[in-house]
Amino acid sequence: MSKPNRPDRRTFAIISHPDAGKTTLTEKLLYFGGAIHLAGEVKARGQTRRARSDWMKIEQQRGISVTSSVMTFERDGITFNLLDTPGHEDFSEDTYRTLTAVDSAVMVIDAAKGIEPQTRKLFEVCRLRSVPIITFVNKVDREGRPAFELLDEIADALALDVAPMSWPVGMGGTFEGIYDLARDRLYRPASDATGAYEGDSVAVAGLGDSQLDGMVSAEGVALLREEAELAQVGYAPFDEAAYLHGDLTPVYFGSALKDFGVEQLIDALADFAPSPRPQPGEPRDVDPGEPNVAGFVFKVQANMNPQHRDRVAFMRLCSGRFRRGMKLAQVGTGKQIAIHSPILFFAQNRELAEEAFPGDIIGIPNHGTLRVGDTLTEGEMIRFTGLPNFAPEILRRVKLADPTKTKQLRNALNDMAEEGIMQVFHPQIGSQLVIGVVGQLQLDVLISRLQAEYKVEAGFEPSPYDTARWITADDEKALDEFMGLHRSAMAHDRDEAPVFMAKDAWELNYIQGKFPGLRFSATKDRR
Ligand code: G4P
Repeated sequence: MSKPNRPDRRTFAIISHPDAGKTTLTEKLLYFGGAIHLAGEVKARGQTRRARSDWMKIEQQRGISVTSSVMTFERDGITFNLLDTPGHEDFSEDTYRTLTAVDSAVMVIDAAKGIEPQTRKLFEVCRLRSVPIITFVNKVDREGRPAFELLDEIADALALDVAPMSWPVGMGGTFEGIYDLARDRLYRPASDATGAYEGDSVAVAGLGDSQLDGMVSAEGVALLREEAELAQVGYAPFDEAAYLHGDLTPVYFGSALKDFGVEQLIDALADFAPSPRPQPGEPRDVDPGEPNVAGFVFKVQANMNPQHRDRVAFMRLCSGRFRRGMKLAQVGTGKQIAIHSPILFFAQNRELAEEAFPGDIIGIPNHGTLRVGDTLTEGEMIRFTGLPNFAPEILRRVKLADPTKTKQLRNALNDMAEEGIMQVFHPQIGSQLVIGVVGQLQLDVLISRLQAEYKVEAGFEPSPYDTARWITADDEKALDEFMGLHRSAMAHDRDEAPVFMAKDAWELNYIQGKFPGLRFSATKDRR
């Protein structure tokens, strides 16, 4: 079911709670997209990558993925860019920023668990930006909750219309396949012990077609007819405009492990997911059809190769046709950056990019010039907006084992703040830096990276503060006055923006109430 003239890029991410099956689904998408040939390659690739970098030992020890990467595959003339997002909740800041670089998302839900906390958090970020979402209810080959219950939960918990696009014939022990409601096709498991889908799908004339009776058990077909008919009456039909607006989610049932529903998901992305959308910017938004190149950096990863101390900035191209060797201006500093060795990320290899188009992600190796939030253009002073810093939930003072290493420590912390994995605050009083992170695990990563990459032994001391807010005011005088009154709780971030550190949520509330003319923000747009 192809659409004439459909534009040829789909840039998307998968959002899910850990363990719902994101890695398995990623692998299967790449497999069916022809980018990898054997099941298991995504994990294998991850392991070689991990072996390369010391600090990633933490990933291995804790069995989680800290880094995110970009994977590309092509099918029927469409290029799919899948931006992988770290799933662990401690790293949600990085994940949130990745979501600013996509045009749509796939939400994976475990059929036995329904909506879990991390799914909900990530969904909220998508909603803020009206990112359209396709839902994949995974693991129907195992005992799960009834399909109706899951659909109702998605609708209620996320305040979203749901449109079932397929229906499971039984679940777990009684699983007999998936029925595609839009195309009237039944997908059945292989008869061997694997139970995997092997391409045996049969087109029928509708749920009433008597052909169905011979294809699954009598109970299975009776239940399918009853449930699917009820579902079609009880839920909204698929409405493309409502989906694109982020008000409705089409729901596919499947099993990433057993290959069910994966190709339908790719077809859905091809048919419905938006091609690159205009990006919000100041002083104007940028349309992907514009001839000049413009993009923004949503992630920086340092020391991917510890021998070279390289850094790769991940830029999302928003407009124009990018060609290797182009010079782009870093808006803000005006610095010209010649991009001689851009990298496009394919499933297994990094390849030198000759050209790239809106929606593509380009890796730009650099020595620390590029920062998260940077806009690059052919000269026009536009700044893409909406890449927030998040208020840290844990504040710590940094303690050096060897005080002569102060300079190395500052450089290291600045580097890591540039990567956007944590924030450094300079208190108005005293010289001890305070760092802010959104999760405990980041502290471990920091210590480990300080040692491995910068040879700095450091630890953390509790800070008297619990949380921080960026403060702004229309009335400069009121702001100065506030800062004067609260000198010991004031700091600035690396852009010199004033930050108020509060001892706890109660104090923050109290102070906010007392100074209604000031804005206390939990996020700050990066410049
Ligand atoms: P994540 O990236 O979202 O954290 O999830 P991941 O794909 O690693 O999957 C988590 C576990 O769920 C894995 O099992 C995986 O094999 C299993 N799984 C994923 N999709 C399906 C599915 O459709 N059906 C069934 N039955 N299981 C599924 P594990 O035992 O934790 O890991 P592994 O030893 O299999 O790698």
